[in-house]
Amino acid sequence: MTILITGGTGQTGSQLARLLDIAKIPFVIASRSATVPAPFEAVKFDWFDESTYRNAFDLRSDIDKVYLVLPPLVDPTAIAKSFIDFAISKGVKRFVLLSATVMEKGGAETGKVHELLAESGAEYVVLRPTWFLTTSNFPENFGTTFASVIQDFDSIPTVTRDGRVPFVGVEDIAKAAYDALVSTEKGLKTDRYVLGPQLYSYDEAAALLSKVLGRTITHQRISPEESIASFEELGAEPEYASMLTSFALQIASGAEEAIFRDKKAIIGQVKLEDYFDANKGLWAKN
Ligand SMILES: NC(=O)c1ccc[n+]([C@@H]2O[C@H](COP(=O)([O-])OP(=O)(O)OC[C@H]3O[C@@H](n4cnc5c(N)ncnc54)[C@H](OP(=O)(O)O)[C@@H]3O)[C@@H](O)[C@H]2O)c1
Repeated sequence: MTILITGGTGQTGSQLARLLDIAKIPFVIASRSATVPAPFEAVKFDWFDESTYRNAFDLRSDIDKVYLVLPPLVDPTAIAKSFIDFAISKGVKRFVLLSATVMEKGGAETGKVHELLAESGAEYVVLRPTWFLTTSNFPENFGTTFASVIQDFDSIPTVTRDGRVPFVGVEDIAKAAYDALVSTEKGLKTDRYVLGPQLYSYDEAAALLSKVLGRTITHQRISPEESIASFEELGAEPEYASMLTSFALQIASGAEEAIFRDKKAIIGQVKLEDYFDANKGLWAKN
């Protein structure tokens, strides 16, 4: 039995590979670059090129579970359906999807994939992490979008007002994915929130970062229009920039805090202050 990790060179996928390797559970990594350190096995896989879907199954005929990381698209239904149908035809029995707190089943982006999995007949676990503590190139986090404005202007611009977020570490998301993939429970068809251990407003986050960096960082309260424009400047399509802004506005309305207080989520261990401390070079003045 082998696990296929799509997005296996990314943040959560590579941490998942590390956990499976420690447990000696066979896995194959899939991504466009297919570049991984030896002795890991990787295959070329591109969501937008169906001819690459078979590569992993040609390499290993016993793939029965898949970790799904979709590229950022407002509606990934078409590519997700092609791949899920193909994987099931090759014997896959369980999918673990990386989605998000804000993505309701049937709603935008991976919410649509959640719905496809529910209709597929396969076992599935949809992971719904909150906002990541991250250094990847996804345009919405301290280590990415905000890194250059923090460096240049000592500012974190958001539409979140006093809303609070239980920021989550990618290690904790990978552990939730690992648990869902190796679980011996039969008939799994569920979704799980994955959150960090503590709530922070962006004012509180800015104060923590100020302490770590030894200079004052301020949370700058911007309008939705300014937020959309800044995501577009970073290369997001207008529709995607609007969607990201609407997700951030849900923080302002207390949605992320409510999920945390509901106490039904998987709670990780990585704390915001530890993440700031370990990565302080990201926000240093040049
Ligand atoms: N950032 C947040 O706060 C947040 C919160 C909740 C959910 N999420 C979700 O987390 C996901 C990102 O997960 P992550 O951080 O683990 O990944 P990541 O570090 O952003 O890496 C993306 C992975 O996907 C691969 N990839 C990109 N485009 C591809 C394509 N066309 N075909 C095949 N593979 C492709 C990349 O490898 P190659 O470049 O080699 O192909 C890489 O392995 C996003 O879908 C986002 O919606 C993010």
